[in-house]
Parts: sequence; structure tokens; C-alpha cells
Amino acid sequence: MTKVTLTVNGRSMSGQAEGRTLLSSFLREELGLTGTHVGCDTSQCGACVVHMDGQAVKSCTVLAQDVDGASVTTIEGMANADGSLGTIQQAFQDHHGLQCGFCTPGMVMASAALLAENPKPTEAEVRHYLEGNICRCTGYHNIVKAVMAASGQDAGGAVAAE
Ligand code: FES
Ligand code: FES
Repeated sequence: MTKVTLTVNGRSMSGQAEGRTLLSSFLREELGLTGTHVGCDTSQCGACVVHMDGQAVKSCTVLAQDVDGASVTTIEGMANADGSLGTIQQAFQDHHGLQCGFCTPGMVMASAALLAENPKPTEAEVRHYLEGNICRCTGYHNIVKAVMAASGQDAGGAVAAE
């Protein structure tokens, strides 16, 4: 076991990791941040997306020991300082961009990364960017609406296209 220290949502946090421990497992099991979900562990579902040093990454594809010292943002860091939902989270709620909610942390984190690099994406760009995130419930339509709304654009025109 090796001590791994990360800056998580602006706070320094440490835990023990084996060489094989995935960042997703480290966040959930060692640091207690269970908002990051694990749907596959094989880089297919996107439920585990976090931001690492400003980039969206599937945390099941990263070994915790390899990212010692990194700065990580998880879904727990997306709320406002007063605890209310952040802009993207609120848009998902307002536009029914979730049902069971299992995919939602990854969807929100991926959407935040998209909007950071492309603040006014087209619907096609939203769909393309979120291709690595699987949702078994919503049919994606309302997720796209939510991301468009979070970008300050008309959410009503999002076209269903699964
Ligand atoms: S748990 Fe990481 S992509 Fe599915
Ligand atoms: S809301 Fe259930 S998997 Fe997306």
C-alpha cells in the first residue's frame, strides 16, 4: 500500500492505495466520495467521469498511485458554496435529465468539461461529446436539453435522436 494525496474539490485528501487501485475505487472507498459511480470498470459507461487537472477523465481508467498530487473535481464539488445545486445540476433537474440518476454524476462532469471548452455548443456537439456516457433511462433527449439550457441556450429545440 502506498499513501496517495490528492487535492479533491479544493481540499487536500489522503488515503492508501494498492498498485492496482483505480482512482474511481480510491475516491469511493478510501475517501468516501461515493458520488462518483462505477457502472462498468472497463471504460465504457462514463458514470465515473471526474475532472483531473482540469480534464474530464474516466476515473476507472486511472491508477490512484499514478496521480498522486493531482487536483481532482468530483460531483461533490459541483454544488454551490451554499450547498444548492450548481448550474448544470439544476438544469438536469429542471429538464428531467435524469431518472434513476446512476449516470448523472458522469453526465454532469462530462457536460461541465464540454461547457468549459465550448460554452455554446450545438446540440450535435453535445451529443457527440457525451457519446462516452451511457444512460439506460432517459433516451438522452432531456440530457441534451439540460446541457443546452445550462449553456444559456434554448433547450426546447433539442431533437430526439438515439
Ligand atoms: S465505471 Fe468507468 S467508464 Fe464505466
Ligand atoms: S438516468 Fe438512469 S442511467 Fe441515466
